[in-house]
Amino acid sequence: MTTGGGTYAVTGSASGMGAAVAASLRDAGHTVIGVDLRDADVVADLSTGDGRKKAAAEVLAKTGGRLDGAVLAAGMGPSKGRERMITEVNVLGVTELLTAWRPALAAADKAKVVVFGSNSTTVTPMVPRGAVRRLINGDTARATKQILRRRGVTAPVAYAASKIAVTQWCRWQGTKPEWAGQGIRINVIAPGPVMTPLLEAQLNSPQAKAVTSFPVPVREFGTPEQLAAWVMTMLSPAADFMAGSIVTVDGGTEALMRTRDWPAPLPLRGIPKLVWKMYRAPKEGQVAKY
Ligand code: NAI
Repeated sequence: MTTGGGTYAVTGSASGMGAAVAASLRDAGHTVIGVDLRDADVVADLSTGDGRKKAAAEVLAKTGGRLDGAVLAAGMGPSKGRERMITEVNVLGVTELLTAWRPALAAADKAKVVVFGSNSTTVTPMVPRGAVRRLINGDTARATKQILRRRGVTAPVAYAASKIAVTQWCRWQGTKPEWAGQGIRINVIAPGPVMTPLLEAQLNSPQAKAVTSFPVPVREFGTPEQLAAWVMTMLSPAADFMAGSIVTVDGGTEALMRTRDWPAPLPLRGIPKLVWKMYRAPKEGQVAKY
């Protein structure tokens, strides 16, 4: 458990798991700066560049230059026709905010960041790798174009691509000297189906069958409170020795469907890449590409 007195930014604080995390933090005596489309300390639309700038700046103005942690829970589910918006909120709504908040996080003593990914990152087929790479580099327009070109079930693919991209961004950035080396711990929580308005919307849509027929070995949905308890641990000193990890809390779906895929030995071709990643320092003014 985190001891009280800290300041935390929570996006998606008005509903579901973001609301449950905000309540747990407040119960533990922390100050929460909630960001959402409504009912929040900072009302902003994370699907637009201006909205993200507003959210980043208004949160910083309320922190006094120091953030003990951030929880990025704002997100859109796989709703058809909104593929571009899904990628804007789920990817840039995390990466742009965290980049703006990095100095305030570095100013705290071992700040903790928890980003909401999803187990859809591991159980969705046909997600184009090129689209994921474009999303990590912030190009939502070309990524979405690539996804829409495939026709068929584009919204679940856009959703999974957005969550794969944001998860890989966290593992890429979170292990860099600018983040891990500055005391900031970025980790990802990957829920399976959790009973929130987002899941309810899916259960009331034409995708309902796909959701209910998906195998969940424990045979029940999760609750926002269960997920909030894991997030609270990931915000506590228990996470001091944790960077770039993915905590999957999904009733066993990922383990069932990907049993033999990981853990896996490091392929020999991975070693030079690893060394390159560890020692390559970006040149002055250079924008790092994934
Ligand atoms: P929810 O729908 O209850 O809450 C999401 C919140 O994000 C809402 O308050 C909504 O207003 C906010 N939001 C959406 N678009 C926004 C925008 N453009 N600007 C600002 N705020 C915006 O959803 P839930 O289930 O609590 O989801 C939390 C996170 O967990 C999301 O990132 C979601 O993708 C992820 N997740 C949810 C799962 C589930 O089964 N519920 C499963 C796996 C991941």
